[in-house]
Amino acid sequence: MPVIRLFSPDASPGPAALEQLAAGVTELLGLPAGHCWVWWQRLEPGTYHRPEWRAPDTPPAPVGFVVCKESYSKDQVGALLRLLQGRLSQLLNVPADEIFLTVQRAVAGELLVRDEVWFAHLEEPRPGAVTDLVPIGRVHTDRSDLSDDYWGDVTSVIRLDGQQFTAEALLGLDTFSHLEVVFRFHRVAPEKVHTGARHPRGNPDWPRAGIFAQRAKNRPNRIGVSRCKLLKVDGLDVHVRGLDAVDGTPVLDIKPYLTQFGPREDVVQPAWVDDLMRDYY
Ligand SMILES: C[S@@+](CC[C@H](N)C(=O)[O-])C[C@H]1O[C@@H](n2cnc3c(N)ncnc32)[C@H](O)[C@@H]1O
Repeated sequence: MPVIRLFSPDASPGPAALEQLAAGVTELLGLPAGHCWVWWQRLEPGTYHRPEWRAPDTPPAPVGFVVCKESYSKDQVGALLRLLQGRLSQLLNVPADEIFLTVQRAVAGELLVRDEVWFAHLEEPRPGAVTDLVPIGRVHTDRSDLSDDYWGDVTSVIRLDGQQFTAEALLGLDTFSHLEVVFRFHRVAPEKVHTGARHPRGNPDWPRAGIFAQRAKNRPNRIGVSRCKLLKVDGLDVHVRGLDAVDGTPVLDIKPYLTQFGPREDVVQPAWVDDLMRDYY
């Protein structure tokens, strides 16, 4: 939920321009609509000290603060700053290297949004919780909407975390055609998790099924397991097709797919599954 606050001695470029800026950030971070706020704060003469802002010939570049949750990765924050720099530079016709932006991380427990305090990392782990999982990387893709179908042609890059891995970790992976990817449904809020039974996709035409008898994202532990086609491995980047995870998804594991680990018997599944999966890939 980034809040972007820009200071300038100039008048605001107008609501449409600020909305455009928010739309770019929303898309980059894969946020739901309305989760990025932008403020333009005009400064009165005499209330600031910045020598370039007195020069008559140069358009004054704004100075800004970006407040965002500490859970955003370094990559995401870097991309966010670059995007804001590029867009502001174009929008205001000021040199990119004149724009100063700083990020303030909103610490868990100190951020109140829409009547909810964000406690992402402050909660006491529940007894028995597995607390040592660290994403090995993230998914980068153009797809950020949480709709359910048409994943077949979606291409993505799983970028391994360079702090933890070198390309050695992927050695030989390119001798396989398919992967199994384990990831976290990071955009499912904890309070949206189902533990009982419900109609898959809320469709009353399909019978109620327990959360462990379906593959819904709102599941305990919010873990996804997908198979996808491996396209190529390039350094720390694993290029894939058909991975049903949105942009920014934290990846917990990648494994090559082995036919021998597939079922050894005929597979049985209820009829509603064929209906549900009709347009999935
Ligand atoms: C039904 S789940 C199935 C995922 C995987 N094939 C599995 O069976 O575990 C896939 C859906 O989860 C949603 N999704 C993908 N990435 C997500 C993320 N990071 N957070 C929340 N939802 C996500 C998308 O809407 C996608 O259609």
